[in-house]
Formats: sequence, C-alpha cells, structure tokens
Amino acid sequence: MTAAATGAAWYKDAVFYQLHVKTFCDSDGDGIGDFKGLTGKLDYVRDLGIDCLWILPMYPSPFRDDGYDISDYCSIHPSYGSMQDFRDFLEAAHARGLRVITELVLNHTSDQHAWFKEARSSRDHPLRDWYVWSDTDDRYAGVRIIFTDTERSNWAWDPQTKQYYWHRFFSHQPDLNFDNPAVREEFWNVMKFWLEIGVDGFRVDAVPYLIEREGTSCENLPETHAVLKFLRQRLDEHFTDRVLLAEANQWPEDVRHYFGEGDEFHMAFHFPLMPRMFMAVGLEDRKPLVDIVERTPAIPENCQWGIFLRNHDELTLEMVTEVERQYMYDEYARDPVARINVGIRRRLAPLLEGDRRRIELMNGLLMSLPGSPIVYYGDEIGMGDNIYLGDRNGVRTPMQWNGGWNAGFSSADPERLAQPLISNAVYGYQGVNVESQRRVEHSLLNWTRRLIRARQSSPVFSRGTTTFLKPANHRVLAFLRTLDRDQVLVVCNLASTAQAVQLDLRELAGALPIEMFGKSVFPRIGAAPYVLTLNPYDFYWFKLRRL
Ligand code: NOJ
Repeated sequence: MTAAATGAAWYKDAVFYQLHVKTFCDSDGDGIGDFKGLTGKLDYVRDLGIDCLWILPMYPSPFRDDGYDISDYCSIHPSYGSMQDFRDFLEAAHARGLRVITELVLNHTSDQHAWFKEARSSRDHPLRDWYVWSDTDDRYAGVRIIFTDTERSNWAWDPQTKQYYWHRFFSHQPDLNFDNPAVREEFWNVMKFWLEIGVDGFRVDAVPYLIEREGTSCENLPETHAVLKFLRQRLDEHFTDRVLLAEANQWPEDVRHYFGEGDEFHMAFHFPLMPRMFMAVGLEDRKPLVDIVERTPAIPENCQWGIFLRNHDELTLEMVTEVERQYMYDEYARDPVARINVGIRRRLAPLLEGDRRRIELMNGLLMSLPGSPIVYYGDEIGMGDNIYLGDRNGVRTPMQWNGGWNAGFSSADPERLAQPLISNAVYGYQGVNVESQRRVEHSLLNWTRRLIRARQSSPVFSRGTTTFLKPANHRVLAFLRTLDRDQVLVVCNLASTAQAVQLDLRELAGALPIEMFGKSVFPRIGAAPYVLTLNPYDFYWFKLRRL
C-alpha cells in the first residue's frame, strides 16, 4: 500500500483492482478459480501498485447472472473454496497492505434463495412481504427495462401463488421489498457478518432501484436514500475505516445525492465520464470529457468518485444521448455481435484496436482525472475478449499468466475451464501474458506499473482540484491538478496526428515543469504562451516546481 492510502479516507488515495475469483487463478485443477489461487497471486497485484481489491460476487449462486444472483449471502461458493480459505486470503491481503472490498447485492436475490422460495410458497407466508408482488403486471408502468436483450417486462408471473413479482434485472432475480424494515435489518446483519470477518467495505450493486413508487421512474427515490443512510449510519456506529462504493448508473446530478452530506456513500462510480473518455479520443475533441467533468457537482470532503475504463459488464451507453450512443456503436462496435443491452461487450485493448498509444493515453486519463481509478483485471496486460461467448462472459475470460498450459490459470483439461481462454493470433495467451510482459522492460504491464507509481507519487491526483485550460487547439486536453502548493499540469493529445498547442500559463509564470516519467526539466514558464508539441496520442504529466 502506498503511504498515502493508509491514512484517513484511504479510499481517496487508493488505486483499485477489480477481479473475478472464478477466472483469476485455479489452485485445485477443477477449472474454476478459487481463493487459494488468488492468494498465491497477491504479490503480483501488490507489485502492480494496487491498494484495494474489489472481488466480484463470491457467494453461493446458481450462476445465471455470474454470481449476482445470490442464493446465500453469508457463505462462500464451494467452487471458490471454504470460509477458511476466504479468511486466509483476507489475512494474506492485509499482511501485504492490500485492502479488500466485496459485493453487496441489495436490490435482488436469486429465485433460488431460501427467502424467495419461502416467500413464493404461499401468499400468507411471513416472508411474502420481503419481495414485491402484484395481481396485475401494469403497476409502475413506464419503468425502464435494464436488460433490454432478454427481458420484456419488469414483472414475472409466479404460477405457484398466481401473482406477479417485480424484478429490475433478470426475471430469476426478484427484487427485495425495502419498504419492509425486516429486509433492511437483515442486510445490516449481512454487512456486519463480513465486516467482522474483516472486509474493508462493499461495492453496493444496483442502488437506485431499492424502492418502488407509482407514477415515478422507481429510481433514485428519497425512500431509497433513506434505506442507504440507515445502512451507513449502522456502519459508522460499529466500524471505522470501511468504504461503501455505489453502483448507480445515473447522471452526475442524480449520483451526487448518493453521497448525501457525507453520510451515505463514501464513493460512487462516475458512469457518464467513462464513455466520454472514449468519445473524446474517438472524436479527437476534448469537449465531451471537459463538459461532463465541469457538469459534475462538487461532492463532500470525505467522498470520492470511482473512475474506470472497463469493468465486468458491457461498456454501458445508458448515460449518453441517442446521437452519442450511435456514434459509440459506429466507432467502437461496428460488429453487432459486440453489442449487448445498451452497451458494448469488449475489453479495453480490442476497443482501441490494440493500439498501444491509445491504450496508454486512456490509462493516462484514468490515472489523472479526478477520482480513484479502478483497473479491470487483465487490462494491465492488454487482454482480449471473446464476443461470441454468451451474455457478458466474453470480458470475463481467465487471466493470462503465462504461455503454457491453460495460460497458467489452471491445470484442468481445457474443456473444463470456467470460461474458454483467449487464444486468437492477436490477443492469445501464448503472447499476451504476465510472464512474457515481465521480461520486457517496455511491456504494457511494466508501463502500467510505472504509471501507477507516478500517480501515487503525488497526492494532487487523488485529492487535488481540477482546472481545465482551454487552448485553441481542441484536440488537446490540458488540465491542472492542484493541492495546496503542489501542482501537476496534464497535457494530452487526443488526436491520431501530431499536434502543437499554446497554453496560457501566465498565472504560473516562474514555475519549472518537470516531466514526471523521465524527470526531464522543461523550459521555465513565462508570460508568453507556453508551446508544446505532442506526437499522436501523446501525453505529459508535469510537476510544477515553484521558484
Ligand atoms: C450490476 C452488475 O454489475 C451486473 O453484472 C449484474 O448483472 C446486475 N447488477 C444485476 O445484478
């Protein structure tokens, strides 16, 4: 852990790494990753410069939504190991200074969860009211459907008790009824269970949808915020130093409310920023990116955005306009197979056509824009994807450790693997893997490690303010990150062609820019426009040394 990420509000200084136990490392040769395997790879994650792991759902589940359909909140899926394996993993992570957050899926359970089985057993079962039932399927009309490729309605028919139940995701994921205080209490028990074991917090799934009200979109309702504030209050009463990270795929003004007055979530993903990073680079124009950051409201002092390029889901295009969505599909998913729901099921490297310069630029943005960066496993080596696998599985293939048997992921027969490996000529594990990239000084892996180290060398990136400079050349993005007397100037060429830019840096006259990767000293800033030239997709981070 970097020195910075050990203090108060550690999550503000942390670099996160998101991974799936299932596809990270298999220790027992059954083809499925497990906690023992992951424990053996903790040095790798630490050496990358990571401060906190985010583990995808690790609980018993029928796996119809890759574990987000939970059938028991307080155990470990047997394929991933035992509870003791999890405790050992957590201890080993903490011993290395790594924190760990896990998933809290509040909104819905699997239809295989005992609560739902009981609730659907009869209309007057005491647990009936833990879910949302209706005689008709026309209540909450107009509420949008999220999984547009598979679901036609947010209601599903239960033939046993002859009523409909409400679900915002798959029909096998009934929504819990958070109007019922017993449900909230139960979730506090679930949280307490894991917090006592020692997890450092939760990524909280699908938070906007907890409560339903007629005549509304059933999203972001005040009653939903009340539930979340209740859970936060309990957390603060019993534990210190833990983090709650909200998954609320909404516009910044709406997400702002999930921070409350610093009394709801510590962190929230910045969903609308993500596609705009891709748009800015695709269009060679800083406007979409600058606009969304400037439109983002200020958040309380103890809060932080979580920013990311890719994750385990489709690259979501819900938070863009219709025209922007079309542009994104045309630019990044010409092949319709790459599209799913309202988004694109591709990993970072293939999205950027394997172009190392663009991959570096996008990672440079991730590590310098305001918020704590979250790296998706495998993107640090430029892993590829498989759009022909069902659902979003194509971006969840096994981690590529080496060029040997099953990429070093598992000793099982290849047919038995949780997901097939990527083995094509461009992204195949034979060439794209950790071991080979360790050997090459200028590999993406080693470069990413240096990038993370550079970010962690200055607190301006995690805690500083952000001011955009707006030079005439719109293909250049330039901004200042400032914290007290520390200042970093970031200049990025979003274009595929070389660019020159004149920056008005008069207010910084006298400062000496030191390029942060090579430590080269650039000419002192004066009253005249500061001229820089940048190669295609090039970027600079300058530490400004004052007189
Ligand atoms: C959000 C998760 O990120 C996604 O993978 C899942 O399918 C939905 N929630 C439903 O649980």
